[in-house]
Amino acid sequence: MKNNPKVEDNFPWDQTMRNHFTTFPKFLLSSILLISILCIFYTVSFSNSSNKDLNIITAVHDGREEVAVAPPPVPSPKPSPSSKTTLHQIVFGIAASARLWDHRKNYIKLWWKPQMRGVVWLDKGVKTGTDDHILPQKMISVDTSKFKYNNPKGHRSAIRITRIVSETLRLDLDDVRWFVMGDDDTFFVPDNLVRVLSKYDHNQFYYIGSSSESHLQNINFSYGMAYGGGGFAISYPLAKALAKMQDRCIQRYPGLYGSDDRIHACMAELGVPLTKEPGFHQYDVFGNLLGLLSAHPVAPLVSIHHLDKVEPIFPNMNRVQALTRLNIPINLDSAALMQQSVCYDKTRSWTVSVSWGYTVQIYRGIFSVREMEMPARTFLNWYKRADYTGFAFNTRPVTRHVCQKPFVYYLSKASYNKVMNQTVSEHVQHQVSNPDCKWKMADPSRIERVEVYRKPDPNLWDKPPRRNCCRVLPTKKKGTMVIDVGVCGDDEVIELR
Ligand SMILES: *[C@@H]1O[C@H](CO)[C@@H](O)[C@H](O)[C@H]1NC(C)=O
Ligand SMILES: *[C@@H]1O[C@H](CO)[C@@H](O)[C@H](O)[C@H]1NC(C)=O
Repeated sequence: MKNNPKVEDNFPWDQTMRNHFTTFPKFLLSSILLISILCIFYTVSFSNSSNKDLNIITAVHDGREEVAVAPPPVPSPKPSPSSKTTLHQIVFGIAASARLWDHRKNYIKLWWKPQMRGVVWLDKGVKTGTDDHILPQKMISVDTSKFKYNNPKGHRSAIRITRIVSETLRLDLDDVRWFVMGDDDTFFVPDNLVRVLSKYDHNQFYYIGSSSESHLQNINFSYGMAYGGGGFAISYPLAKALAKMQDRCIQRYPGLYGSDDRIHACMAELGVPLTKEPGFHQYDVFGNLLGLLSAHPVAPLVSIHHLDKVEPIFPNMNRVQALTRLNIPINLDSAALMQQSVCYDKTRSWTVSVSWGYTVQIYRGIFSVREMEMPARTFLNWYKRADYTGFAFNTRPVTRHVCQKPFVYYLSKASYNKVMNQTVSEHVQHQVSNPDCKWKMADPSRIERVEVYRKPDPNLWDKPPRRNCCRVLPTKKKGTMVIDVGVCGDDEVIELR
């Protein structure tokens, strides 16, 4: 069956076009001015044209050609490709439902900042709240009952949600580089999102996100699909290309399950593969995220999803309280969040694993970094299984041996010392009954708190990824371990010497 051409009549496209044309004369005028200046510049620099000069000229000529030939693309002034992406240039499209709004809005409040732009797309209206001013604006998605949906397991709201990209684009906001999708149960670390997206040229076609943790999910759906709840980003020109064909595309895949696989199907038709960024987390898991978060990949943490499925990330508090606590290190040094470093307490033969802003774990005995960087399976996969074949990456079992259980210290507070230019994070031992271990070696249970020092480095990710080093420092404080975390020194290797 062919798609219904009526669907396309609903597009507010002509309106968008008209908006562009009103700005056209101004654009044309400035282009002429620019070209004249360039002609002079070109003549002057021609005699000693180095490669650099030529590049500038070609770049601007390309810009002019686009203006002259194709109808005006972006109504806003074209940013120079070198200027860094800011939070303002990212527009969020958050999928939400009226039914869960009163609960889920509390997650959005935790990461949303007034300078951000975006829309919460709902299926129907909700009561106005006293907290509306600290939340993104709300809109009701257009009716999608005309579209075909025949997946027996899924829900047809997938159609509404998959169209959020196009609906957000059609709001015609200016100076947009990226559209970022997420769910109402997705927690974003906005500064890290900016760090990740700034690496890519927003003038090109990019589809950025990550796959599922659960191997079976990726088999059922695709390893090449960006999982929607983990959040994914679509560059402005790609969103435009998608919007032109999305409604026809959706009609070709009525049997698909969700909204993100529909995006994936359309991306496949556009020929744009997924650019995987390991900081987006779908978290298709149940249970405790401890294993995953304390062995985070060496990449900025961008998102945490399925907040209602996993346990609160800090013990003895509710989910919102736990994420409020996580905001402490995020506000101090977001780039370093969850970055794992491994070091050894030589005299006591312990292995120490730090996940910055979250946990410190002390193990009896010496484990290699190779082992420690593997997440411990403190969680189940999406099909409630815990075996090692369930995941799309290597994991290690949670040890049952009483002597090999790690002592876990959760972040309790953190602050920044301006004079020293470093953060100090305090971690306290998680009170679990540690049955007697008969090994004749130092017992970490004596350590009640751990202090972690680190120089904040907002430019951490401007360099190629490298794990930080940590060092156990000598201290006279009773029951306390002091650790310094930072860039590895020359010839510093994570080994027991
Ligand atoms: C994925 O595969 C599993 C195992 O075969 C099955 O139980 C599950 O229903 C599938 N899920 C979807 C959404 O297709
Ligand atoms: C603190 O240290 C970091 C890392 O060395 C450096 O990038 C930053 O500029 C310093 N900040 C201040 C205020 O000195």
